[in-house]
Amino acid sequence: MKVLVVGGGGREHALVWKLAQGPRVKKIYAAPGNAGIAQQAECVPISAGDVEGLFAFAKEQGIDLTFVGPEDALVKGIVDRFEAENLRIFGPRAAAARLEGSKTFAKDLMRKYEIPTAEYQTFTDYDNAMAFVWELDTPCVVKADGLAAGKGVIVADNDSEAMAAVKEIMLNRAFGDAGDKVVVEERLAGQEVSVLAFTDGRTVVPLLAAQDHKQVFDGDKGPNTGGMGAYCPAPIYTPELAQTVVPKILEATVTAMAAEGCPYCGVLYAGLMITEKGPQVLEFNVRFGDPEAQPLLAMLETDLVDIAEAVIDGRLNEIEIRWKPGAAVCVVMAAGGYPGSYAKGKPIEGIEAAAAGGDVVVFHAGTRLDGDRVVTSGGRVLGVTAVGEDIPSAIGKAYEAVGKIHFEDMYYRKDIGHKAVGES
Ligand code: AMP
Ligand code: GLY
Repeated sequence: MKVLVVGGGGREHALVWKLAQGPRVKKIYAAPGNAGIAQQAECVPISAGDVEGLFAFAKEQGIDLTFVGPEDALVKGIVDRFEAENLRIFGPRAAAARLEGSKTFAKDLMRKYEIPTAEYQTFTDYDNAMAFVWELDTPCVVKADGLAAGKGVIVADNDSEAMAAVKEIMLNRAFGDAGDKVVVEERLAGQEVSVLAFTDGRTVVPLLAAQDHKQVFDGDKGPNTGGMGAYCPAPIYTPELAQTVVPKILEATVTAMAAEGCPYCGVLYAGLMITEKGPQVLEFNVRFGDPEAQPLLAMLETDLVDIAEAVIDGRLNEIEIRWKPGAAVCVVMAAGGYPGSYAKGKPIEGIEAAAAGGDVVVFHAGTRLDGDRVVTSGGRVLGVTAVGEDIPSAIGKAYEAVGKIHFEDMYYRKDIGHKAVGES
């Protein structure tokens, strides 16, 4: 079987690593891939958002299964394009990918089907949005409707921050057309947890709950990033919580999408806030999280090809999804300065030594080959991922491995996973 993985970050390295363990997989291509992915897959220089380029490649090579990492191509309709020519691909069609591609679509769906989420209003008119923020007497969150590379959400502490955000999005067009509409919503308080599920549009199988670390500095300080580390399973996600989240959020959303005529297939990511009133949806993503995918795929026992095929064929109810015992932790090693500006091209030492222990995988995110040397080429450079018998043991192994890796100006958080052991 020939498999194509779309993307070139840490999540996609984890996907390639996991897919490569499938007994039926003979060859993996990655578009565009990175230096770590290149050890297990043939990297092809097609960008992850180039739907036509990816389609032409898959058709020409006779790819049997395509796995899409990032959201961009899904929102643009890569699944519709592939399916129209009978190419097998894992992920939601464009109409279903609106759950991530349009915040107003997601919010309106949740309102209609009573899926718990923050109160909100949407605006296409700048003056109305400003007046609403002015009249609100609670802290709010301002969100650009469309895709904004994870930057279109501003959690405001006061009216003037919220108004500045509305201005930035709607008037200054900081995110282009993604700012044609804004959502202004109630600001929720609590701990965040990411609950992902595989679904074929009917059956919903939740993955282990994961927790991301979005802020750049220890203690959740500083600006948001794509994610500085993650772990699973998250102890905050108790069995009691699952009893609410699975039927009232995950299954309810899949049922709602089918009722709306846009059935959802693939992996559905619910970003939740655990509030005093119970779990509430902050956002949906239509793909694996990055870096949540790294610890989740490290813990997944079942062959990912079997899962993907069951999802595509609508028989997810027939397979059993198993997990390794214990826990996994991923520590992201970033280039100093990230998420602001940072240097590229720094040689990386010690990756092999770090991975020598057996329970550790060093997933590459922003790396490339310079001759035969691996050098940095992005803000998030590596995702050092360890499996242990519990979270403290996985934390210990991950940081021991991190200690063996070096590149100039490297930076990483020292407290990944600590929330799970009550140290934060
Ligand atoms: P989103 O892309 O919608 O997940 O937003 C990114 C981040 O903004 C989330 O992970 C939360 O940390 C924060 N956020 C989003 N919506 C809210 C909200 N209603 N209340 C508080 N924080 C929020
Ligand atoms: N780590 C958050 C995301 O992938 O959206």
